[in-house]
Amino acid sequence: MRMDKLLANVGFGTRKEVKQLIKSGVVLVNNEIVKEGKSHVDPEKDTITVHGEQIVYKEFYYFMMNKPAGVISATEDMKDETVIDLLYIEDQRPNIFPVGRLDKDTEGLLLLTNDGQLAHQLLSPKKHVPKTYFVVIDGSICEEERHAIETGVQLDDGYVTKPAKLKVIKNGEIRSEVELTITEGKYHQVKRMFQAIGRTVVYLKRMTMGPLKLDEDLALGEYRELTEEEIQLLKGK
Ligand code: URA
Repeated sequence: MRMDKLLANVGFGTRKEVKQLIKSGVVLVNNEIVKEGKSHVDPEKDTITVHGEQIVYKEFYYFMMNKPAGVISATEDMKDETVIDLLYIEDQRPNIFPVGRLDKDTEGLLLLTNDGQLAHQLLSPKKHVPKTYFVVIDGSICEEERHAIETGVQLDDGYVTKPAKLKVIKNGEIRSEVELTITEGKYHQVKRMFQAIGRTVVYLKRMTMGPLKLDEDLALGEYRELTEEEIQLLKGK
């Protein structure tokens, strides 16, 4: 792997910035100064130091975030704060992106990674990855409506949703709390499913994605790296 690419990947700046860094003579490979950005290194075998500090190289990064409302699930935006802006500078590596989208007003579990293959596996409609949402709706929900949501409702564009699971946690006249598990990810799907039965979603939080569960210790806006066990679970290993 090229030295400049490796240093950019681990967060030492843009390719141009790391080229300058390398030229300044502070990068050593196996105790020898390297001055060429294009020189090749093997991150598995070579010992690389910058300003005397050893570099621990990882190809892929996986973060679980408890997304707050008001932030958008994109890598950049002209107007709004993005989930990438919530990462510490040292974690804002090139190519990190959110896996799928949560609406601006939706909270909860969001995976961020630079592993395109895993993201594809999780988002592919063919894989039917289940996602569970905690939903607060206006009004109550009766057994027929629960059944309709579970078997399939017709959305405003005519699409009929695939079988889902709906658990009623609290049924109230003004507000009800439910847990909905769906295996697809159409635009505004949860909101539109409740709209199909005449309800409005007033609060939405994603709790799970496949085998990954939101860590309840994460406050809104906080994130942490996935454990090795969580990564293997997500990869289906
Ligand atoms: N369904 C929605 O309507 N919004 C989300 O953010 C996620 C699922």
